[in-house]
Amino acid sequence: MSERVRRAVCPGSYDPVTNGHLDVVVRAAATHDEVVVAILHNPAKQGTFTVPERVAFVEHAVAAAGLAGTVRVEAFADRLLVDVCRDLGADVVVKGLRGGTDFAYELPMARMNRHLTGLETVFLPGDPALEHVSSSLVKEVCRYGGDVDGLVPDEVRDALVARLRAD
Ligand code: PNS
Repeated sequence: MSERVRRAVCPGSYDPVTNGHLDVVVRAAATHDEVVVAILHNPAKQGTFTVPERVAFVEHAVAAAGLAGTVRVEAFADRLLVDVCRDLGADVVVKGLRGGTDFAYELPMARMNRHLTGLETVFLPGDPALEHVSSSLVKEVCRYGGDVDGLVPDEVRDALVARLRAD
């Protein structure tokens, strides 16, 4: 009898990946057979990092965590998450919640995805030590000279400094 693979998707813009994102990915990998980090982007919107850069940052962090065999990274443009999950053969989305604001943002999306195709979302409580960490806040702090050490992988920190403090 063949066993069903439990494949989870961790979606986001990952511009760039933070240690908060990685905490959720590592915990999703501990509770599922396979995890796909889905970098969803709108080509009309310019991010801080290109999509290949974002993919590489996550891939390097996943490899450093020893999870390259369980977690893969894929990018998708202009797609509904439910369609991405259907194509990937994934029946669950895993997301971290840092607090009530995240919950208020995520709940309608989770309900809409379930309405559309029955896609379920599992929320993991964010690590309190990383509650204040978001891609946008990390970028703002770095842009104006603040220290983002320990909030993102070292490679991302160096890339943020090079990109945001260039001029
Ligand atoms: O990192 P973010 O910005 O919080 O990620 C949000 C993201 C990309 C996961 C969300 O906007 C999304 O799922 N976009 C794909 C388009 C889609 O399915 N929209 C309807 C959501 S109910």
